[in-house]
Amino acid sequence: MSDSVPVITIDGPSGSGKGTVTGRVAERLGWWVLDSGALYRLVGYAVEQAKIGFNDQNKISEIASKLNVKFDHGVIRLGGIDVTTAIRTETAGNNASKVAAMPGVRQALLDWQRDYARLPGLVADGRDMGTTVFPDAGLKIFLTASAAERAQRRYKQLKEKGLPANLAALTAEIEERDARDRNRAVSPLVPAADAIEIDSTALTIENVVERVLQQAHAVYATPYRPLSGRQN
Ligand code: DC
Repeated sequence: MSDSVPVITIDGPSGSGKGTVTGRVAERLGWWVLDSGALYRLVGYAVEQAKIGFNDQNKISEIASKLNVKFDHGVIRLGGIDVTTAIRTETAGNNASKVAAMPGVRQALLDWQRDYARLPGLVADGRDMGTTVFPDAGLKIFLTASAAERAQRRYKQLKEKGLPANLAALTAEIEERDARDRNRAVSPLVPAADAIEIDSTALTIENVVERVLQQAHAVYATPYRPLSGRQN
C-alpha cells in the first residue's frame, strides 16, 4: 500500500452492518471499496465447485492464488460465470469462514487486497483490515452488535428477499461463525489496538455512517457536512 493513499478500515463480525456502512461511507467520500469477505466467499465457492473437500489446505491455497475473478459494475464472475448471488448464501458464508482459517489462503489474498488501495482513497471491509492488511490505515473502525441483533437483521434481509429464514438457526450460525473467526490462529477477528469501536446494536445505519464520516473528517480532512444540521 502506498502511504499516500488514505485508507479507512471497517472490521467486525458478520451482520454488524459493515458492508452497508462501508458502501455508504465510500459513496459519500467518492472512494473505492474493498469487500474482502467476497474474496473469501469466492475461494469457498471455488473449493465447493472443485469438489475437493475442505481439508486439503495446500490445494485450497493454490485455488486461492489462481482465482479467475472479474468485478464488473456489481457483478462478480468466477471463471466467466456470474456468482454474485451464489456467494451470498449462508452456506457460502460458512465455507468462506472455513477457508479463511487457512494461513495459505490468507497469504494468497494479501497482495490482492492491498492492491485495492488507490487514490482518492479506500474503505476496506473485513475482519483483519486494520490489524493485518492495512496496519497503517489512518482510521480504523471496529463495528459490533449483539449476536441476537445481528441474527434479527439477517432474518429481516432474507425475508425481504423472499428467501427461507429461521431465526434460531441464524443465531446459532452467527455464533458458530463468530467463534471460528475470533479463535483462529491467523488474523483472528479482534479490534486493532488503535481501532475506534462502535456498537451498532441500538444505532441506525445512518448514525454509524455519520460517526465514521466525522472521524474521517478529523483524520483526513475529507468534506463533511452533518445531515441533521448539527454543528461540526
Ligand atoms: O464479511 P463476510 O460475511 O462476507 O465474510 C465471510 C467470511 O470470510 C467470514 O466468516 C470471515 C471471513 N473473512 C475473513 O476471515 N477476513 C476478512 N477480511 C473478511 C472475511
